[in-house]
Amino acid sequence: MERKEIKISSEKDTRAFAAELAEKAQPGDVIALVGDLGTGKTTLTKYIAEALGVTDVITSPTFNIVCEYKTGRMPLYHFDVYRLTGPEEVYDLGFDEYFYGDGLCVIEWADLIEETLPEETVFVDMQYGRSQEERIYTVSRQEQ
Ligand SMILES: Nc1ncnc2c1ncn2[C@@H]1O[C@H](COP(=O)(O)OP(=O)(O)OP(=O)(O)O)[C@@H](O)[C@H]1O
Ligand SMILES: [Mg+2]
Repeated sequence: MERKEIKISSEKDTRAFAAELAEKAQPGDVIALVGDLGTGKTTLTKYIAEALGVTDVITSPTFNIVCEYKTGRMPLYHFDVYRLTGPEEVYDLGFDEYFYGDGLCVIEWADLIEETLPEETVFVDMQYGRSQEERIYTVSRQEQ
């Protein structure tokens, strides 16, 4: 397991980190966001979308579970799996096809469905810091 801790001092740092993730992203990649309410999962996704060149307005996919954006350099599939009852629902709804698909998947509350995610998934664990905009991200992935 490769692990890196990143200190985010402000939303500006979040944006820069998102740009880095977007730059490295390849079709079929999965980014799993794990963190409490309000740590910035949707905000990070918005900045990833921006960096991919998505021109649509990004909304929170709470009710649809997945929102698809196809105006960037690759498709972006933004999930919020908070309302899923468990991993079985991922297969019932066919979401695993997205995880092995043609775009970048970014998944809020990914810990709830962890066992359904591809081995190469990049996890971003998000924690509150000491000030209002501070966050600590722990980025991890399996060694390949
Ligand atoms: N460094 C930061 N990174 C991201 N968001 C930040 C940061 N500092 C402050 N914020 C603010 O924190 C809030 C994060 O809200 P956001 O909806 O992105 O969180 P979330 O993790 O998606 O929440 P939920 O669990 O409800 O889905 C926003 O209002 C954002 O402006
Ligand atoms: Mg959110």
